[in-house]
Amino acid sequence: MPELKKSAGMTYLRETRLERDFKPMDRPAIRGCEPYKEYPNSRRFTLPRVRHDHGKDLWQSLQDRRSRRRFSAGPMAQDDLALLLWAAQGITARSGSYFMRTAPSAGALYPIETYVGINRVTGLPPGIHHFNPAGFFLEQLTETTPGPFLATAALGQKFLENAAVVMIWTAVFRRNLAKYGNRGMRYILMDAGHICQNLLLAAESLGFAACPVAAFFDHEIDLLLNLDEEEESVIYLAGVGPAPPQEP
Ligand SMILES: Cc1cc2nc3c(=O)[nH]c(=O)nc-3n(C[C@H](O)[C@H](O)[C@H](O)COP(=O)(O)O)c2cc1C
Repeated sequence: MPELKKSAGMTYLRETRLERDFKPMDRPAIRGCEPYKEYPNSRRFTLPRVRHDHGKDLWQSLQDRRSRRRFSAGPMAQDDLALLLWAAQGITARSGSYFMRTAPSAGALYPIETYVGINRVTGLPPGIHHFNPAGFFLEQLTETTPGPFLATAALGQKFLENAAVVMIWTAVFRRNLAKYGNRGMRYILMDAGHICQNLLLAAESLGFAACPVAAFFDHEIDLLLNLDEEEESVIYLAGVGPAPPQEP
């Protein structure tokens, strides 16, 4: 199948295989950067302290999880948003200078940033917010309800407009590539997968609907977030929120 062999995807995989003669010095000289982003001039919203005393257990959540695309018109409680963010990217331990999180990350580098598109959360203004994992607060970046824009940018997937919240995960490439070179791009995508699965299981545990989304016009979402695409770009989305009462 020559066309597969020549594809960009297969070329990338081939060129980032580790071989026995590999030397760490072969890596490109990319300097690192700060371990997570901060928006000091934004309006901050401290998230409630998380409680772990409710929800379905892990085994039942694994059994029941499905990608669900129907949402209730009601808001999400701030407690539940806090719990979802903690499940996806909460800091759970310290190891030397590393702040470990709920999801694993290659080299504990945590290149994924979490932005929250808030359509309806009790007590929080709609807009795009950035999640600060160390301070456990949100930093508000925009003030317009983001659902319609995100749905359009996601190839018209209307359910993102109906979800109470849309998680937006970006990668700050330098954070990982400074250590792992081009192979690090593989690790970045794996990191995002772990984070999203944590979110999906937490959503299932809370009885929420949630659906991962990777079909979107990257550039449009990067523009919304005002990103320098050479440094950071959107990787993955997930719509999440209370389900309609009749949802099986
Ligand atoms: C990487 C990835 C990208 C996905 N992108 C979309 C998407 O853009 N839109 C959508 O409706 N579902 C999307 N899904 C959900 C899949 O359609 C779903 O996981 C699959 O049909 C299996 O169903 P289940 O999740 O209910 O087990 C995506 C899933 C993954 C893992």
